[in-house]
Amino acid sequence: MSRSDRFLKAIRGEAVDTTPIWIMRQAGRYLPEYRATRAKAGDFLTLCKTPELACEVTLQPIDKIGVDAAILFSDILIPLEPMGVPLAFPDEGPRLSPVRDEAGIDKLRVPDPEAEFPFVMDAIRLIRRALDGRVPLIGFAGAPFTMLTYVVEGQTGKQFAETKKLLFGNPTAAHKLLQKLADTVAVYLAAQVKAGAQTVQIFDSWVGQLAPDDFRTFAAPYVQQIVDKLKPLGAPIIYFANDGGSLLGDAARLGADALGVDWRTPLDEARAKTGEHVTLQGNLDPCLLFAPIAEIERRTADVMRRAANKRHIFNLGHGILPGTPPEHAQALVEIVHRLGQR
Ligand code: CP3
Repeated sequence: MSRSDRFLKAIRGEAVDTTPIWIMRQAGRYLPEYRATRAKAGDFLTLCKTPELACEVTLQPIDKIGVDAAILFSDILIPLEPMGVPLAFPDEGPRLSPVRDEAGIDKLRVPDPEAEFPFVMDAIRLIRRALDGRVPLIGFAGAPFTMLTYVVEGQTGKQFAETKKLLFGNPTAAHKLLQKLADTVAVYLAAQVKAGAQTVQIFDSWVGQLAPDDFRTFAAPYVQQIVDKLKPLGAPIIYFANDGGSLLGDAARLGADALGVDWRTPLDEARAKTGEHVTLQGNLDPCLLFAPIAEIERRTADVMRRAANKRHIFNLGHGILPGTPPEHAQALVEIVHRLGQR
């Protein structure tokens, strides 16, 4: 067994030689190589839309950091533009023209990914060729609820008041929007798998804003639809419900093969809520990578003790932060592989 297959084996719950690791946002601003390619592209959207450059940055952490999987370089907001929501990425973060009423929602379309944003699937085909079997490739999309927050807020939410005004004030319109987003994400992820993504992660970055009952109403059924549509394609599915400690029991019943766990819920407590039939992925606090390496090792050992070598993929509890020393990310990979040896 080797680096090329331990990640997919761990998702499926098969025996591994050591604990596999990848890092959310592993291709990003903490890497000088990323900043150089980003400068060459000029802006972030051009980087996402140029398959050769997206391929280049996807590969940067593979050899340099030593992770066991590659993740497509793109963004969860990319499918919103072809749906009819114009998008920009100034330095302050994403900016969209918000859609908050039923008339606006009725105008949004479910796009055909290969016809309308083929650059993502072209990037996947290039990356698979360039990886040449070294590690598997993860595709991804945003979960419908998290996508809805961007459509409605027009930016990264703070109190999510506009989102909740729609959910609680006009649930019919909210469900219409969620359904269009779920249909878009389902065909988009299917297109990614057909192009060569070997597994997909659904990012529900803001779902922790919902109480459990609202999760069951506005988030879970749409993730469930996506899982049901993707299952026949055979690629395993990871669902990451950020800040979703109170939702883990429900999340474990959606049919995903793996659940991402943020750092606020210890993995032994997460396991008690999910049962044994899913792989858990996580969950070191990303800020620990700013600590001295001895402290990274101590805290990594604690995560691994709680994971107890049961269906575990190591990751941070959310994305790696800009300013993280790349050597500390390298050290983390070495520590996980050493401590995880079976
Ligand atoms: O993980 C990877 O290495 C793959 C690439 C990836 C990006 N975004 C690149 C990116 C992935 C998987 C994403 C997902 C994404 N995008 C999420 C879900 C994951 C999460 O963190 O919860 C969300 C919420 C977004 C939306 C988004 N994109 C925001 C809020 C921002 C600005 C804030 C930030 O983190 O920079 C982005 C921009 C973005 N997406 C950058 C990168 C590398 C930075 C752009 C730059 O180069 O300036």
